Amino acid sequence: MPIEKLEFELLSAVALGLGITGGAAIAAEGYAGPYGFGTTPTEAEIAAIDIDAMGDGRGLPPGSGTYEEGRVVYEGKCSACHGENMEGVGSVSAPRLIGGRGTIGDESSIVTIESFWPFAPTVFDYVKRAMPFDAPGSLTDDELYAVVAYILAEANIIDHDLRLDSETLTTVEMPNRDGFIPDSRPDVFNFD
Ligand code: HEC
Repeated sequence: MPIEKLEFELLSAVALGLGITGGAAIAAEGYAGPYGFGTTPTEAEIAAIDIDAMGDGRGLPPGSGTYEEGRVVYEGKCSACHGENMEGVGSVSAPRLIGGRGTIGDESSIVTIESFWPFAPTVFDYVKRAMPFDAPGSLTDDELYAVVAYILAEANIIDHDLRLDSETLTTVEMPNRDGFIPDSRPDVFNFD
């Protein structure tokens, strides 16, 4: 038998052996399904990541919060990075959150929640999934409504006495609401 052929057969045998052993190990761990790995997620596992809130308010959870409650959340969990007056802190790359209204499109645009963000419910969505930067997902929904109320009131977008919940947050009109060009191209679905 030529050497190359022998080497090929040996390699195939090794590969096959690994495949079988790997498959057996996975099966022994109890995985099911056509590919021999993965498990069907539980409803609780899906609920834990199904937290998106859309610009029109769909997906916002129950709960509510006020400016005063939000000030406590902000001072305890946000101001170290975003600054006492939401002016941002360059040394930790935490952006300014308010101000700059009307500057978008200028040479020196100041991009903040107040100047840029088109929909109020997505501020809730973003903070819920991404903030505090060092402990995302740690705020309750009441704390989230409260801290969003604090930011929006400090930005003079809502009254200080407006209690935010899924309904009131959806009615908030952001200053840059019309600063975006709708994309008229249809959605394309690659997968059923
Ligand atoms: C450890 C530092 C840190 C803490 C604490 C923190 N942030 Fe942030 N935050 C950041 C950084 C850094 C970014 C920029 C993230 C990026 O661009 O990906 C950011 C971005 C944001 C933005 C998006 C701003 C924009 O214009 O895109 C919002 C809103 C925000 N943070 C709110 C909060 C709130 C509310 C809290 C408190 C509950 C908080 N952050 C706590 C560091 C922090």
